[in-house]
Amino acid sequence: MQVIRERDALAAAVAEYRSEGSRVVLVPTMGALHAGHVSLIEAAKRPGTKVVASIFVNPRQFGPNEDLGRYPRREMADIRMLTEAGCDAVWMPGVDTMYPDGFATTIHVSGVSEGFDGAARPGHFDGVATVVTKLFNQVRPDAAYFGEKDFQQIAVIRRMVADLDMGIEIVGVPTQREDDGLALSSRNIYLDADERAKAVALPRALGVAARAIARGEDVVAVLDDARTTLTAAGFEVDYVALADAETLAVEPAADRPRRLLAAARMGSTRLIDNVPVDQG
Ligand code: PAJ
Repeated sequence: MQVIRERDALAAAVAEYRSEGSRVVLVPTMGALHAGHVSLIEAAKRPGTKVVASIFVNPRQFGPNEDLGRYPRREMADIRMLTEAGCDAVWMPGVDTMYPDGFATTIHVSGVSEGFDGAARPGHFDGVATVVTKLFNQVRPDAAYFGEKDFQQIAVIRRMVADLDMGIEIVGVPTQREDDGLALSSRNIYLDADERAKAVALPRALGVAARAIARGEDVVAVLDDARTTLTAAGFEVDYVALADAETLAVEPAADRPRRLLAAARMGSTRLIDNVPVDQG
């Protein structure tokens, strides 16, 4: 696997892939890789495809009181995991490469980026949309793979790619989970043993609620029950909501694909998760 830190080397590597007639796929990450990230690499790998992962802890998507300073950084382990997963190259730009002095542009996607995590984390999706646009322009991939774990993020990126005619196929990959159901996340390491044990309530409550909604139970009551369950389990609930799976509009029609989304804090760790709601 090629480890690339300079723009010129990236351009040369991608040009070589293209000259071989390969399709180029990008998997953006912030490192601290786990089996969820590896599943994106594996999903992207096909004959005739070169997979480029990126690792960049993007300061612009962290709020002033968030965990930028303590976000886990594990470069050597990440490179090893990507190599083992069969990734062809990893793009690891420095902050100065991404945001040189004078950098002045922000991409803001209205609507879909404004509820849920967008409301709880002001500026977060502007930071995501801006860095993903830069990564797309640097790598110029045919397709990019994202995890459904960050469901709103995929919706924001799909909207942006359509609105700005980026012509990049966006592929969503199902959430990888621990045996007990907790979604894999680089932030799970912040949980102590007691918090980790309690955290399983999040996927469980979502599963129970999704099944109840699919059966046709009253949505408001089901969401209230889920909040109560999470609070009783030790979570401080940020939101539990049912949304249109495409637009993320709340109170979605029952004949539309629907998604149940939640964010809740366990101690100082904010966890997010989401599940599909089967159509009745
Ligand atoms: P990061 O949190 O490192 O996640 C990188 C990719 O891995 C995202 O597409 C995310 O949805 C996916 N992912 C994380 N946990 C997953 C799991 N349990 N199962 C499947 N996929 C999972 O998301 C970001 O970085 C950043 O916002 C980024 C897009 C790189 C822009 O900075």
